[in-house]
Amino acid sequence: MTNRRSFLKQSVSASTGVFYIAKTSWAQKSPGDTINMAVIGFGGRGGSHISGYKKLKDEGVRVAALCDVDSNTLSKGVGSFDKEKLKVTGYTDLRKLLENKDIDAVSIATPNHWHALATIWAVQAGKDVYVEKPVSHCVWEGRQMVKAARKYGKMVQTGTQSRSSRKGIGEAVKYVQEGNLGKILLSRGLCYKRRASIGKTEGEQPIPESIDYDLWCGPGPKGPLTRKNLKYDWHWTWAYGNGDLGNQGIHQMDIARWFLGEMELSPSVWSVGGRLGYEDDGETANTQIIFHGYEKAPMIFEVRGLPENKDSKNMDKFKGAGVGVVVECEGGYVVVPNYSGAIVYDKDGKEIKKFEGAEDHFKNFINACRSRRVDDLNADILEGHLSSALCHTGNISHRLGQKEKPEEIMEKIKGDTFAADTFERMKEHLAKNEVDLNKDMLTLGPVLKMDGKAERFTGNDDANAMLKDKYREPFVVPDVV
Ligand SMILES: NC(=O)c1ccc[n+]([C@@H]2O[C@H](COP(=O)([O-])OP(=O)(O)OC[C@H]3O[C@@H](n4cnc5c(N)ncnc54)[C@H](O)[C@@H]3O)[C@@H](O)[C@H]2O)c1
Repeated sequence: MTNRRSFLKQSVSASTGVFYIAKTSWAQKSPGDTINMAVIGFGGRGGSHISGYKKLKDEGVRVAALCDVDSNTLSKGVGSFDKEKLKVTGYTDLRKLLENKDIDAVSIATPNHWHALATIWAVQAGKDVYVEKPVSHCVWEGRQMVKAARKYGKMVQTGTQSRSSRKGIGEAVKYVQEGNLGKILLSRGLCYKRRASIGKTEGEQPIPESIDYDLWCGPGPKGPLTRKNLKYDWHWTWAYGNGDLGNQGIHQMDIARWFLGEMELSPSVWSVGGRLGYEDDGETANTQIIFHGYEKAPMIFEVRGLPENKDSKNMDKFKGAGVGVVVECEGGYVVVPNYSGAIVYDKDGKEIKKFEGAEDHFKNFINACRSRRVDDLNADILEGHLSSALCHTGNISHRLGQKEKPEEIMEKIKGDTFAADTFERMKEHLAKNEVDLNKDMLTLGPVLKMDGKAERFTGNDDANAMLKDKYREPFVVPDVV
């Protein structure tokens, strides 16, 4: 028998391609009711999601379902709940999980290429969503996520947890934006984080038997595995990951944009970098500078995956930060050295102020789920989309670039002092790692101009073609959400 609900579901999916449509379960909830959470993907980061929600037991949160395409991971996860005598349902296919009407919200920690589709399907199925950073694998799908969140009235939180440092980083942002240090001259994000070689394999590698590889690939291409580890090392492939810009870097990109207060993509972007110091199966740059030409003040982002020198285990630091943000202002500068605070210095480098404090980002999500106010989210999906997209546009410039000699690169960028100084420091860093830039040349990307309102590049078809992935049926991010 076809009841009204399933008829509605069928007719909607037939006419618009929408997979799921369900009445929000929140409509029937009162503030004290239990929130049934599901965690999707818990190879690494998803484990912190599970423990994060478990900690919120007294806030009425229950982890009611787990989903992973790796049967080993799934049975381990479900087994640990069994041991604690907690009831949890295990799923391999997130589409089956989303059919469960008892689930109120999902928390997604799959690889990047799944984030957008899983989020869009989830909000269409009536769930609120916490989705890891970068929220998207390409620019276009991030905007689709924002549209879907708004259309279905769902809370979608980005996994950039430093946004919940309101008393720390948030207050420092306010301090700068109120003009206490004069105008901002530059916002600089830093990701100096060791990334060693992932090894070099020969030919096709075996897929672990416990993995449903079709589901793992999902919207991405389903090709042979050409690296040793299927898990985690996908970060360094273009098909599923976004390099360190979109891995660690997105956190600092987001903080750097937070200080600038920019709510559009930058009007111009270029990149210089490469994968240097070793030869392995990775594709993404391990050393990179990207330059976002915002009008009020530019944003520079630096990635360094190699150590401070060839024989060292230590990483470089810039003004006290390794993985952090440095905001240069007329009257001094601010350093954000971690996820929970900021230090203000005057022009002479004397510390003049400190901001510290962070809330629980998962709890903030749950609070917003209950209040139903997007404004209550510390990292609404729009923020996540914009910051993720700033990583993607930088990578697009890199991928369209050409290998050039250091002098040729300097000749082209020397008009901007900040860019030229940053490039000089990059060269010194690579020299200390014994990288010969006349042999292993850096790639200089084109300056790409962007229409921030349309989120399209102007006058560059090749760059525009890279704004949207080619999805694999039936895992297609819909044009109409
Ligand atoms: N916010 C943070 O501080 C932080 C820290 C680390 C990672 N992350 C993010 O978390 C995400 C996961 O990273 P990771 O290091 O845990 O990766 P990982 O490869 O170690 O784990 C991903 C897990 O997802 C599973 N999976 C893949 N496709 C799935 C699907 N369709 N449905 C269900 N499960 C699926 C895999 O089997 C695996 O167990 C990434 O997007 C990463 O950027 C965020």
